[in-house]
Amino acid sequence: MLAIVGGSGLSALACMKTERRQVVRTPYGEPSGPLLIGQLANVPAVFLARHGYGHTIAPHEINYRANIWALKRSGATRVVSAAAVGGIRADLAPGSILVPDQIIDYTWGRSHTFFEGEAPVTHVDFTRPYSPEVRAAILEAAGTCAVAAGDGGVYAVTQGPRLETAAEIDRLERDGADVVGMTAMPEAALARELDLPYAAIVVVVNHAAGRGDSRSRVDLEAVSRVLEAGMRKVALVVETLAGVCR
Ligand code: HPA
Repeated sequence: MLAIVGGSGLSALACMKTERRQVVRTPYGEPSGPLLIGQLANVPAVFLARHGYGHTIAPHEINYRANIWALKRSGATRVVSAAAVGGIRADLAPGSILVPDQIIDYTWGRSHTFFEGEAPVTHVDFTRPYSPEVRAAILEAAGTCAVAAGDGGVYAVTQGPRLETAAEIDRLERDGADVVGMTAMPEAALARELDLPYAAIVVVVNHAAGRGDSRSRVDLEAVSRVLEAGMRKVALVVETLAGVCR
């Protein structure tokens, strides 16, 4: 079953026929909300709003373990994550859509593993943090529905909830990052720990701090139109993916 984790601007999929809402209890506490289980393009799908259905949960307060565990428990076999990000690379202007292929994790203090207090110690391979198969499916779906989506890019994950300083963005760029957001980790690593193929499609909603029209400040209040239009395209890609991934 296809799972979709919706980020800012995507707290529901209008095209999904929800058949039931499932409250999942997990050993890690509560997920961000009930799972919406139903049909997307006539294939079984499960949707979860990462920040809660009223967008009330900040990136550093999300119970990533409960979310990923609940999706696995519900029968998910692949996860598509949608997220809004800031654009660091010069060509990634607001409105750009990207399917990243790498992650650099700058977060701290988040519950980031299922493997605690266990012997023997478990290390998962994370060389390619995103599933090449799910990435390919997203890119193919984007091509099918004529949504321009960049293939590859490095997603820097910051702790938030504050935005970055201009110097921090310069540093992220020197590190090789193309976009910056707050939610890819530990979500991607937890999916890997549960052997759940996972990839992301991200919408650039603002120039990162110190870049473009964010030179002196980032006005995230002003991004709602870009976010809305971008997430409409993401929803179309996801629906197309469901149609071709049965
Ligand atoms: N930085 C971090 N996270 C974000 C940004 C940003 O500029 N825009 C959207 N999410």
